[in-house]
Amino acid sequence: MRIDIVTLFPELCDSFLSASILGRARAKNLFEAHCHQIRDYTTNKQKQTDDYPYGGGCGMVLYAQPIADCLRAVQRQCAEQGREKPHVVFLTAAGQPYNEETAKRLARYDAVTLVCGHYEGIDQRVIDAFGDEEISIGDYVLTGGELASLVVADSVLRLQPGVLAEEKGYQDESYWDGLLEYPQYTRPEVWEGRAVPPVLLTGDHQKIDAWRGAQSRTRTRLRRPDLYEQWCDTHPLTELPKWKRGENMRLVKTDDQWDQAARLFAEGRYAVCEKVSTALYLDTLTPENCRKELLQDRENGWAFYLHYTKNVVDGMVGVCHKTGRISHLFVTAESRGRGIGSKMLDFARKKLPEHPNPTLTVLDTNIRALALYRRMGWRPEGVEAVYDPQKQPGAAVFCRELILRYQG
Ligand code: ADE
Repeated sequence: MRIDIVTLFPELCDSFLSASILGRARAKNLFEAHCHQIRDYTTNKQKQTDDYPYGGGCGMVLYAQPIADCLRAVQRQCAEQGREKPHVVFLTAAGQPYNEETAKRLARYDAVTLVCGHYEGIDQRVIDAFGDEEISIGDYVLTGGELASLVVADSVLRLQPGVLAEEKGYQDESYWDGLLEYPQYTRPEVWEGRAVPPVLLTGDHQKIDAWRGAQSRTRTRLRRPDLYEQWCDTHPLTELPKWKRGENMRLVKTDDQWDQAARLFAEGRYAVCEKVSTALYLDTLTPENCRKELLQDRENGWAFYLHYTKNVVDGMVGVCHKTGRISHLFVTAESRGRGIGSKMLDFARKKLPEHPNPTLTVLDTNIRALALYRRMGWRPEGVEAVYDPQKQPGAAVFCRELILRYQG
């Protein structure tokens, strides 16, 4: 790949492209980079590159002519090398927002030319005549496009084969695409009283990968819900966690099982409602009340199942054959994060073969559950209820109970 930067500060750009990882890759000819001085292409005696804006206003505007001539020179050089016509990008605060997807797209061109504006801007006519696209690296205004062009060059060049040789495996791992990075640690094991997470010292790479994956997902969910939602949609849970030996589901039948189910139900609903319901409502979530509710549900066609790990109850789920609804999906606090919830949801869905597209409901505040349901093929269909503190005595914050339907 060849990258050209058209700028008033070619030395600045060149020194960045000569340092560190990019510098080493450039020396090995893994890419070609050229930085061009706009001033060299001026035709006026003073080598002036800019002028006052028509219509008035503060700041100066770069002339179209030297930029156009410089771009023509780059086009000629590319043609002489037998390259394709370069893809021309203007860096401006008014451009399209830049992201990794754009970096990957630009990385596929044989030649990309980055044009840096300065002062107040660039004469629009040269952008119209030569620009294939305009890019902004963020919602803030820089004094010039140099830093922006280097951000683009860096993120595009690191994707060129061989530039990050040692990171190949990481790059190829599409699983990480679109998630924020997991936290990293290096020696010493304890620094100023802070220890490295013990799992990283186990040498068990399956466990370490699982921990890193969970960290990435949690970070992304909390810090960038927008990215997380996209990721959930593009990464369906095609492979469910495997059932382990000693794990099974049993229909709630005996008195003791109804007690266990009631306890789980009380604990589970408390966890879901803790942040959105009043203390008055939370106080009603006793095992006794929950048992009554479950028995009432049974009269209305519900069946409940308990999940056992080595004969210890750690999850429950309910299905209603009449309505094709799944509910009461709870996992004990100690057993969360082991995939029990997704296994029970899959189990419940298969218990309802007469309902190929069952439904369930979930509070819109429960983004963790929403994300899991999304990845398992459930999509929002409507609103079951609205909890408004002004209207419902039990509601502490405004939230909605969404209906999701299984879409496969
Ligand atoms: N030039 C000035 N501000 C910029 C930005 N945010 N992105 C790209 N180029 C710029």
